[in-house]
Amino acid sequence: MRVIVEKDKEGVSRRAAQFVANLVRRRPTCVLGLATGSTPLGMYAELIRMHREEGLDFSRVVTFNLDEYVGLSGSHPQSYRHFMQQSLFDHINIDPRDTHVPDGRALDFENYCEQYERLIAEEGGIDLQVLGIGSDGHIAFNEPGSSLGSRTRLKTLTEETVRDNARFFGSEKEVPRLAITMGVGTILESRQCLLLAAGDSKARAIRDTIEGPITAQVTASALQLHRDVIAVLDEEAARLLERRAYYREVEQAQAALQAGQLGKFGMPTS
Ligand code: PGA
Repeated sequence: MRVIVEKDKEGVSRRAAQFVANLVRRRPTCVLGLATGSTPLGMYAELIRMHREEGLDFSRVVTFNLDEYVGLSGSHPQSYRHFMQQSLFDHINIDPRDTHVPDGRALDFENYCEQYERLIAEEGGIDLQVLGIGSDGHIAFNEPGSSLGSRTRLKTLTEETVRDNARFFGSEKEVPRLAITMGVGTILESRQCLLLAAGDSKARAIRDTIEGPITAQVTASALQLHRDVIAVLDEEAARLLERRAYYREVEQAQAALQAGQLGKFGMPTS
């Protein structure tokens, strides 16, 4: 896993937006996997700025969101569809038909979840999946104990997640208890994952994810099995990582290699 530590949350947002924008420029028809929550908000704001000021073109991009609360329609102010419209889709030139967020009011969930998976496959799979992380180490709504091979399905939210998300609803009572979510197995099939975390409340989950054992108790730890994950963290979220100095060295070596400074590695430069 590539681990990048930025000074603060703004740094995380800017760096994450660069990864997304580079892909969109390189492959204008790419398929993006998107996440909700407070963590990616700054990244979306930066992508909107890039669209407006630098002409970043989303007209042929396709997106799939990770999850949605069961029982909320897309127009509900706390639905993830609404969040995505407000935070990104309404401000860029993406075709609304190419933005997919699971339908929290689907009638036949089993069929609907299979169909969501099929749709991802028909679009050629997800090129880059953006991920936040829960304080309990979940990715999407794959709560502790979720099968690491799981696919899109219904999931019951833990008390911890309900508590964490109550801030958006006003009270815990109003937070839906069920969500429709891509599975860990679905996420692992993306070609690249971009894991974002900021703030002290994520430090333990990040340590367990990056340096702990792979376990269904911390579903983000399954990312250790993926061949191409970039974790972009702020100093606070990275606080408990033991190998921080090494991650920094790797980034410096990477930068030197890209700049062609091979002499730094004892290699001939001419
Ligand atoms: P947050 O949520 O970005 O609002 O902290 C992340 C998550 O629960 O996946």
